[in-house]
Amino acid sequence: MADILASLHPLERKVLAALRVTTDFLELQKGSNLSEVEVMRALQWLAAKGLVTLDKKEKIFVNLDKNGLIYREKGLPEIRLFSELKTGSRAMTEVTTVSREEIGISVGTLRKSGLLSMQDGKLVLSGGEYSNLGQDFLQRNFPLELDTLNADEKKVYSDLKKRKELVVESVEKSYLIEVTSEGHSVLQLNLDVEYLEGLTPELLSSGKWKDAKFRHYDVTGNVPSVTAGRIHPLTAVIDLIREVFIEMGFSEMKGPMVETAFWCMDSMWIPQDHPAREEQDTFYLPYEGELPRGGIVEKVARVHEDGGDTGSSGYGYKWDPAVARQMLLRTHTTASTFRNFGSGKVKSPAKYFYVGRVFRNEAIDATHLPEFHQVEGFVMDDGLTLADLMGFIKAFYAKLGFDKIRFKPTYNPYTEPSLEAHYFDEKSGKWLELINSGMFRPESLAPYGIDKPVIAWGLGLERLAMLMYKQGRLRDIFGATCDLDWLRNYEPPRRKD
Ligand code: PHE
Repeated sequence: MADILASLHPLERKVLAALRVTTDFLELQKGSNLSEVEVMRALQWLAAKGLVTLDKKEKIFVNLDKNGLIYREKGLPEIRLFSELKTGSRAMTEVTTVSREEIGISVGTLRKSGLLSMQDGKLVLSGGEYSNLGQDFLQRNFPLELDTLNADEKKVYSDLKKRKELVVESVEKSYLIEVTSEGHSVLQLNLDVEYLEGLTPELLSSGKWKDAKFRHYDVTGNVPSVTAGRIHPLTAVIDLIREVFIEMGFSEMKGPMVETAFWCMDSMWIPQDHPAREEQDTFYLPYEGELPRGGIVEKVARVHEDGGDTGSSGYGYKWDPAVARQMLLRTHTTASTFRNFGSGKVKSPAKYFYVGRVFRNEAIDATHLPEFHQVEGFVMDDGLTLADLMGFIKAFYAKLGFDKIRFKPTYNPYTEPSLEAHYFDEKSGKWLELINSGMFRPESLAPYGIDKPVIAWGLGLERLAMLMYKQGRLRDIFGATCDLDWLRNYEPPRRKD
């Protein structure tokens, strides 16, 4: 019992004290010296705790409106017309007891009752009496509580109510308040007690908190649910991938989205006439960029032209620096790998990864957008072989929960051998490409003085995210069409090992 006291809000205690004397709402307000809202709120809380029951009652009162008051004095227009016609038939224009505005409804009402007809342009009564019930109603005492009317009166009233400005209704709300048996036992307690609402520095420093009585919080109460901010599903995948790479000993690299064709293509020995350079694949910008200094451009030009010292014969064309200077939106994050090589800071052994946005001028469909993210990475060390690349790819995907992987040879101008890894998706029953990879060719590494094996890969982040979330379309995982409920409730991807 003492506990229940400590759980009561001060307003509840005040209203409870007043409930010892009265259960009338207005009296409670006076007795507790609280405002209507405060009493109401306290009663609702008390009701939620089972100490009172609260029943809302609504009483509807009827009052006469403007026309109602007039007809109470002068009589309803149809009654006036009826009396006048009793003294003799006449044309509508000859009627004197009913105004022009009232004549229509008066004639209509009497005709509906079968008491009136038109003959030779005259209003003629057909015998019988017009009911006085409507008029009787108007003569009653108002306000009139709607609930006190019997069925016949209610019918009369509902007809009158349809007429213009005859009656108005007002609603009076009241509450039927009853104290429950549990509430009665609380009323026996001393309600005139003080509970502290919170800690203060003084309470703490004086040590008074030890003996103080605090009001309890009700942590079981119903509160509106709050939808707080969440990590975006795509960001959650990036975070997980970052975690996996860091754990595997990788460092993160960076690079610009706006690139020169040099870093995006020439730097890694993509030939200047390669189809991927065409405008239907690449977004070019109407600017020219600068080429790197320090001999790199010359070395890149040589491997393109005749293979330089790599033993390759190169492409056998004259390398054109103007082509390399064109600016574009990078089509792959491998541009960042080669920028990194060009910086001269990458020393073997090295492991780097990068998650970055890339752009391709391709048709949009359910699984392709002109911009997406790639996850890029490379490992440089003595003695690395294709088996290391395959081993790495398997280990990486296993951590993300993809274990049914197979490899397929592929082609990249800058890697040899080149490998694609495919994953068997149970949901679609298909093998899906997950990653493109390979070992960088000597022609692509020579300009940077790298003579160690480098295994490297790039993968599409959105495709991976769609698999992890088991969603079939890009629009299901991000963008304006993404389902808000799913965004609020999606299961973040987790490590699988
Ligand atoms: N750049 C390749 C792509 O966009 C991926 C890749 C990176 C392949 C590094 C091999 C080596 O698909």
